[in-house]
Amino acid sequence: MAGAAVEGTAERRLLVLGAGPAQLGLLEAAQQQGIFTIAVDRDPGAPGFRFASRRAIVSTEDELGVERLADAERVDGIVSPGSDWPVAVAARVAEKLALPHPIAPQTAILATSKLRQRERFAEAGVPQPGYAVCRSPEDAAEAVRELGYPCVVKAPDLQGQKGLTLVRSEAELAGAVAFAIAAARSGFCLIEQLVDGPEVTVNAFVVDGRFVPLTVTDRIVAEPPAFGVALAHVWPAAHADGAVEAARAAAEALELRDGPVYVQLRVGREGAQVVELAARVGGGHDAELCEAAVGVDLNGLAIAAAFGDEVTPPAPEPRAGGAAVRFLVAPPGALEQVTGIEQASALPGIRFVRVYRDPGYIYVPLRRGSDRAGAILATGDSAGDALARADAAAKRVRFETVNAEALV
Ligand SMILES: Nc1ncnc2c1ncn2[C@@H]1O[C@H](COP(=O)(O)OP(=O)(O)OP(=O)(O)O)[C@@H](O)[C@H]1O
Ligand SMILES: [Mg+2]
Repeated sequence: MAGAAVEGTAERRLLVLGAGPAQLGLLEAAQQQGIFTIAVDRDPGAPGFRFASRRAIVSTEDELGVERLADAERVDGIVSPGSDWPVAVAARVAEKLALPHPIAPQTAILATSKLRQRERFAEAGVPQPGYAVCRSPEDAAEAVRELGYPCVVKAPDLQGQKGLTLVRSEAELAGAVAFAIAAARSGFCLIEQLVDGPEVTVNAFVVDGRFVPLTVTDRIVAEPPAFGVALAHVWPAAHADGAVEAARAAAEALELRDGPVYVQLRVGREGAQVVELAARVGGGHDAELCEAAVGVDLNGLAIAAAFGDEVTPPAPEPRAGGAAVRFLVAPPGALEQVTGIEQASALPGIRFVRVYRDPGYIYVPLRRGSDRAGAILATGDSAGDALARADAAAKRVRFETVNAEALV
């Protein structure tokens, strides 16, 4: 596969932080490569465990626990695909245990703090929305006088839309600030101007400081109260103007020299603005979409980077006219059964249908990314065709739930 170096034949051991929906692709890719994986997740029902050689029921945020595990398991590398906070845990633990790692702890901290990266981007002139740090509703009212409505209130150190709210008027501000501060690890929140306009994601890989863009996808998002939740990623993006340049500038500002990079942007009236950068593969099956779209095994590259292998810069070449990941949303309630997966999988262009949860799982109304029930990857002649194929397949998948009324 393009770019992924595989060294020797001895079984290598990889610690994978997270075994949730966001880690499924990398865990499966590692299994296919014959790598011994130890998957870490505090949720015993995490769907990614099915691809792991060994499961460790440990929180990915329990840094000491992760360090002890990595040491005891004599791992050759650590990776945090699809999830932010553990990116910094992985970098610090790798350094402590003298394991090779694509990013230094200082860089990882920048990559996992929405505030620290905003500060860096401001210094480097990377295009981004205006923002302010707030510790109270009074601070926020003051900041909004300059930033204006609508604005976005968020926790500076979380992901997956935890603590995130779109604020359209003064009446919504204090509640949103209290919500973000309560959710945050740090006791304060960020208020940002809303960049209105299409949203795109740049997935890239950096080799020795060379930023190689792989895919630019349109991110189709849900409406409030599920503000910001991705419902689909569609390639090629229709509104990519300036996105790659802004993403490259963002990666350079954070001094990322190696490994996968995932940059969220919105293309507003003033061009592409960086919402956020993560030093990892995307959590929405972005790496699998990348392979289907441009033939680059991004999960394999991320694994190679985690082992410190020499990596040849990938050479993306279109493999389809379009590709799309469409997320599945289930009706609230306890899952009884899912039907139609086989029929959906057999439709033209369908690469996979993933259902994240087993019967008994309780779905809540869609509010955050973690409330999604599954995903479909499709390819087609164009972006629109791929999305239409994924949509057609999604219609076949039926989630049968019970007791929904008691939960809503
Ligand atoms: N300043 C902004 N302007 C416009 N949209 C925004 C802004 N901030 C956040 N959003 C919307 O909310 C989504 C999530 O924002 P952000 O990445 O900051 O939060 P998150 O909790 O890290 O979510 P995720 O895990 O999806 O990345 C963005 O993809 C975008 O749709
Ligand atoms: Mg984000």
